[in-house]
Amino acid sequence: TSKKSSVDERLFEICQLLEKHIHYYNWVGFYFRNRNKEELKLGPYVGTPTDHTIIPFGKGICGQVAVSNQNFVVPDVSVQDNYIACSMTVKAEIVIPIFVNGKNIGQIDIDSNTPDPFTEADERFLEFVTQKVSEILQ
Ligand code: SME
Repeated sequence: TSKKSSVDERLFEICQLLEKHIHYYNWVGFYFRNRNKEELKLGPYVGTPTDHTIIPFGKGICGQVAVSNQNFVVPDVSVQDNYIACSMTVKAEIVIPIFVNGKNIGQIDIDSNTPDPFTEADERFLEFVTQKVSEILQ
């Protein structure tokens, strides 16, 4: 629908802004829960195309955030259990859930080519971003 495409355009613009202005944000994308399914589907993103357009709940960092409802910061993906590699250049990852009316409906996922780049300031900033996204989706 046109409503969905205008939302997707705004989400894509958010990806572009984040990737452009924060040098250690190298892949920025959204995953959303597929309706009535225990899986995530890739939404708008900027960066290297990924094969992982569908991620089952519980699998990888994204799938774990879908069930934990918690931020997940991975300083070093090379020593991380239950991690889905998308690109050989990625060193670290951060995933922040998106809540609409208290429900975890998706997440923003950011990969970095810089080792251990994410601080609590990134978590607070990205929580602010996901709050804005939540308002866009309502
Ligand atoms: N690394 C993620 C998969 C998505 S890609 O980073 C785009 C994970 O382990 O869930």
